[in-house]
Amino acid sequence: MTDLDTRKDEALSAIAAASDLAQLDEQRVAALGKKGWVSLELKSLGTMSPDERQQAAPAIQAVRAEIADAIAAKKASLEAAALESQLASETIDLTLPAPETPRGSIHPVSQVMDELAEIFADLGFAVATGPEIEDDWHNFTALNMDESHPARAMHDTFYFPDAAPDGGPASSSEAVGQTGRMLLRTHTSPVQIRSMMQQGAPVRLIAPGRVYRSDSDATHTPMFHQVEGLVIDRDIHLGHLKWTLETFFRAFFEREDIVLRLRPSYFPFTEPSVEVDVGYSNEGGRRVVGGHGDEEGHDWMELGGSGMVNPRVLEFAGVDPGEWQGFAFGLGIDRIAMLKYGMNDLRAFFDGDPRWLRHYGFSPFDQPTLSAGVGVRP
Ligand code: FA5
Repeated sequence: MTDLDTRKDEALSAIAAASDLAQLDEQRVAALGKKGWVSLELKSLGTMSPDERQQAAPAIQAVRAEIADAIAAKKASLEAAALESQLASETIDLTLPAPETPRGSIHPVSQVMDELAEIFADLGFAVATGPEIEDDWHNFTALNMDESHPARAMHDTFYFPDAAPDGGPASSSEAVGQTGRMLLRTHTSPVQIRSMMQQGAPVRLIAPGRVYRSDSDATHTPMFHQVEGLVIDRDIHLGHLKWTLETFFRAFFEREDIVLRLRPSYFPFTEPSVEVDVGYSNEGGRRVVGGHGDEEGHDWMELGGSGMVNPRVLEFAGVDPGEWQGFAFGLGIDRIAMLKYGMNDLRAFFDGDPRWLRHYGFSPFDQPTLSAGVGVRP
């Protein structure tokens, strides 16, 4: 074996043994670099006679080509191995569950309002709204509650201090014009007046929203929610009211055994007036709607007031009572939410405690629909 062959074999085994690109490059420099031994061999050709050169050159060039090929092949395999190990170490396990993104929840009152709207929309009711800052004409006077009515008292109603628009003192009539004093509406019934004044008759609407009273215990809060219902047409009677409420509550509570009791009552804006109670039973400390309230283990719970709209109210709202008549109801939304979803303290609804919301709140994806069920459990 010639000296050249020996050096070539040594170089090829060093190239094969290189464990990374840096070591491989050392071998390239040692052989093919400017001062590498192969380069020096090639240079030495210049000092030879033409005959010697012709003999020696092919062997040296063959060695150079062989080493260059070996380096290129080793480089490719080292690069492939590096990629392999990078891929192996950076593997993502797509079967692992994705980290949970914190998500808010829908408050039960909002959920129940959506449920109400869905059920009443199916019965042909539109949704109306009115201002929470109301004047006493729409909130009381037009609803046939005159100046002496006890509900107008300061201890029940939140009034705004009388003030001129620039903040200076003024009499109430100057401050708010013809309509009287401003207050936080005490019920959703003023929406009856506003809707009839705006659209006339016939009417078929619900009006859900916030109302305010100076009231606070386990079943009363200073702010709560009601849904008003109003149906005005030529021949509407109490039977329509009973059917509408029964149909609504059956769909809402998703039970066929809902029994309503219409109890004679008094509201200045309805005549006759009835209070709406629903039968329920007590099961392990939890109120479960269904059954007749007078049955063993059952009782009645008041959900709202209702009646035939007083003709005086129609007159105030500009609707001719000689031609039109109808019913109205006002239900406590928070109470029907408590009854449906099993909460027992109304005050917790408005504490804003995230633990309560996590427990009783609804996923934003639980959209109530009649076909999928309006009663998704939290
Ligand atoms: C009214 O507010 C009448 N406007 C209802 C009405 C409308 C009658 C149309 C006739 C025609 P009442 O004050 O009873 O009535 O309240 C109705 C319902 O609201 C009650 O049955 C109860 O469910 C709920 N409610 C009343 N006060 C509170 C309170 N402080 N906190 C929570 N819910 C309340």
